[in-house]
Amino acid sequence: MWYQTEVTEKCGIQFPIIQAGMAGSTTPELVANVSEMGGLGTIGAGYMSPERLDEEIQQVKRLTSKPFAVNLFVPESFDYTEAAVDDMNDHLQSYREVLGLETPKPAAHDEDVFKRQIDVVIAHEVPVCSFTFGVPSTEIVTRLTAAGTVLIGSATTVAEAQAVAHAGLDMVVAQGSEAGGHRAAFQQEGTTSLVGTMTLVPQIVDSVTIPVIAAGGIMDGRGWVASHVLGAAGVQLGTAFLTTKESAMKPVQKQAILNSVETDTVVTKVLSGKAARGLRNPLIDDLENVNDKVLPYPIQNDLTKQIRATAAQAGNVDWTHTWSGQGARLARETEVKQFIHQFITEAQLQVDRLNV
Ligand SMILES: Cc1cc2nc3c(=O)[nH]c(=O)nc-3n(C[C@H](O)[C@H](O)[C@H](O)COP(=O)(O)O)c2cc1C
Repeated sequence: MWYQTEVTEKCGIQFPIIQAGMAGSTTPELVANVSEMGGLGTIGAGYMSPERLDEEIQQVKRLTSKPFAVNLFVPESFDYTEAAVDDMNDHLQSYREVLGLETPKPAAHDEDVFKRQIDVVIAHEVPVCSFTFGVPSTEIVTRLTAAGTVLIGSATTVAEAQAVAHAGLDMVVAQGSEAGGHRAAFQQEGTTSLVGTMTLVPQIVDSVTIPVIAAGGIMDGRGWVASHVLGAAGVQLGTAFLTTKESAMKPVQKQAILNSVETDTVVTKVLSGKAARGLRNPLIDDLENVNDKVLPYPIQNDLTKQIRATAAQAGNVDWTHTWSGQGARLARETEVKQFIHQFITEAQLQVDRLNV
């Protein structure tokens, strides 16, 4: 069958359809239902403590015996001053007053957490582990590979994809600029050189020998078949899964995506300190006006996250982050099993038409 590729073979799955590990937006039900349908569900574990990750893996394993993945953030170095933190906190004070929040300090960001997340992945013999924001060290790649875990890296340029391949990972996600959420970029500013999926995928396919997974703007079967024609051995979808019943995104945010159009998103660094695509809102507009005060990731994220979480909880989409890709018009209010069934049916229809 056309959909049997190196991705299905290496991951031990039926269809090369990967649900992106979206930190903060996945649930064990989302992950398990994708895997139950023959795709690859992914726990978005970037912000999880090792203890929480351990719990989530156990929950997923209770729901499915099929392969699944864990997605982690490769830690980066960053620099900031207390004065810059105070400056940004002063700017955010008016939001905290309305929401009744204390002024936070940046979190500790102990690199040991990443090593302990890897220990949990190995202890549970997780079949697949994907990474974003960089390439894990040789030591980590060697340990995971020895444990039998299939490794997926993420890239937004040809050079990044080559770095992923060179580091010995098994596959690479080619993340086009249409993609929702944080950009995987680790060699250059995520807000510049935005290369779209249709341009990026074939150039990466021509430049590496490992299988390439297309991501960014793939919302229906047409996007899957187009990616396949461009040489991708699989697809990774984020936004399309956000509006499923099983995603952890708040109902008001799901509705905002369902009501949005292709021009409603922006790539911005102001919410977290790292380039991410989401629905433009008044909080983004306000912070863009003080762009020079924005701290690097993950410090900016630490300073804004309580405001965003409290606002989302209260149903206020103006002061939160609603990460979303440019394919918003194609988003559906659905359930995972129904979505995957339709996605496969649509793709097969396109393949049948191409054969005529
Ligand atoms: C809400 C949201 C959160 C995301 N979080 C992560 C993450 O934690 N790790 C990661 O590798 N990619 C993350 N991504 C990016 C996805 O891996 C993927 O590149 C993107 O969703 C593909 O584009 P699409 O949203 O148009 O499908 C996130 C995307 C969204 C929409």
